[in-house]
Amino acid sequence: MTLQNENHIKKDYSNGLVIFLEKKSLTDELFSSNMPANHRGVVDDVVSALHELQHHHHLVIAGEGEISDHPTESHLSSLLLESEVKFSETADYLTGKDTFSQSEDSTRTHIEEFSRNYGIPVERRLLVQAGTKLSIFCDLKNLGTETVLPEVLTICFHTYSDMASWILSHPSPYKNLLQGLQEGAGILREGGLVVLPTETVYGLGADATNPVAVQKIFAAKKRPFYDPLIVHVSDTKQMLPLVTEFPEKAKALTAHFWPGPLTVVLPKSSLVPSIVTADSPSVAIRMPSNPLARELIRLAGKPIAAPSANLFGCTSPTTAQHVEQQLGGTYDAIIDGGACIVGIESTVISFLGKTPRILRPGGIDQKAIEACIGKVLSDQHDSVEESTTSPGMLPSHYATATPLQIVENPSDYASRSDVGVLLFGKSTEDFHGPVEYLSLSSDPKEAAKRLYQAMRKLDRLSLSLIVVKLLPETGIGIAVNNRLRKAANNH
Ligand code: TXA
Ligand code: MG
Repeated sequence: MTLQNENHIKKDYSNGLVIFLEKKSLTDELFSSNMPANHRGVVDDVVSALHELQHHHHLVIAGEGEISDHPTESHLSSLLLESEVKFSETADYLTGKDTFSQSEDSTRTHIEEFSRNYGIPVERRLLVQAGTKLSIFCDLKNLGTETVLPEVLTICFHTYSDMASWILSHPSPYKNLLQGLQEGAGILREGGLVVLPTETVYGLGADATNPVAVQKIFAAKKRPFYDPLIVHVSDTKQMLPLVTEFPEKAKALTAHFWPGPLTVVLPKSSLVPSIVTADSPSVAIRMPSNPLARELIRLAGKPIAAPSANLFGCTSPTTAQHVEQQLGGTYDAIIDGGACIVGIESTVISFLGKTPRILRPGGIDQKAIEACIGKVLSDQHDSVEESTTSPGMLPSHYATATPLQIVENPSDYASRSDVGVLLFGKSTEDFHGPVEYLSLSSDPKEAAKRLYQAMRKLDRLSLSLIVVKLLPETGIGIAVNNRLRKAANNH
């Protein structure tokens, strides 16, 4: 494989970030035949984000073959030309193979080669990949700093505008991230509040061993003290002193799903102050998979109590901006790690009884749990009164300010311009009100990831009603439906 543009080496890339836009995923996103006619908003979003970025940084389209080779690619170049988005370069790779399929790794190899030719250091490169997981990759290797962050950090976004504003607010992403984590850890150690990204939703964190710090969480969220908090750890070593028992099944489950969206409830040790657990003798513990969250906890050297970073009872946040909009001014620092990739809260499972019991469905579904440790109970299906086992799991939660209603047939509301529609999959119906698609390809995981963002977006439009049809009741769809039912219960 060779770079086509080796002879253009005179271009000056000595300042600003060099943002490589992966050509294939960009064209797929912009010209997807999957896109309903009423969803072209993504094109405007891409164009305006690229406009903004091109004034501050270098944009390089990176991909296989020539841009004019393919109808969608020539379509891309004319769209961008028309929109006055200027690229510093199009780095087209000739692979000499017809069947070459563009993988993340090969793209990175090409970028390495490009960067070598132009002398672009690792810390000034970002690779942007579009599609359902619009994301940027930060290459953290060779930074020479002590960190357990992975060599390549992926940060995901809901929209291109979100991505552009992240890049613009992190002009030196590597330095900014590492500094932010170090400062955040210092604030946590001193008893302050730090908002942290996790793979599920953003959390409002405080040192779990400091009751005064934990009290600030309840104040900021206007959360009643009877609703206990989840304690987050960076590794198992940090978890063991917090509990007095660690049953085999809990061991097996955490060994399998940690780090990840799983919270286990176990008998607490005296290290956990009673304010964290609402006076209960048990504690809920989770090891998040988001590397920024784990690095923050590791640097703080303390277990971190963190509920979702929203006002009590309201929709949970999946971006730093969501948190700022609702809780701005109540915390000491915020780590902006892009959009949460799971998008709904962790599964909470209690090991207090003889048989483990799911208290809250979440990022890991019951089937996967049972495949690991055998039969478990779940409140939803056994219709046990939730509030007796888990005080915080009130029937109304996650609510939008706009009334939300679950309906069988969203099309019934097609003529109402004052009604917002939350759809799971694609629809050709001509809705007069605003529509949010949770997943054009009807992928429940994607729907979970976009759920709160879509609810918040519709909630800002001063509509009289939001209608939504439930997802099929399987896998993560169960957790999504649980959130929708509780959000609907408020009204
Ligand atoms: O994904 C998540 O779990 C997110 C992120 C930030 O980690 N956190 C989260 O926290 O959702 P929060 O506070 O919004 O919800 C925690 C739930 C509450 O409903 C609470 O009642 C339950 O976990 N919980 C906490 N400690 C418990 C305990 N000791 N026994 C039973 N339920 C508990
Ligand atoms: Mg919550």
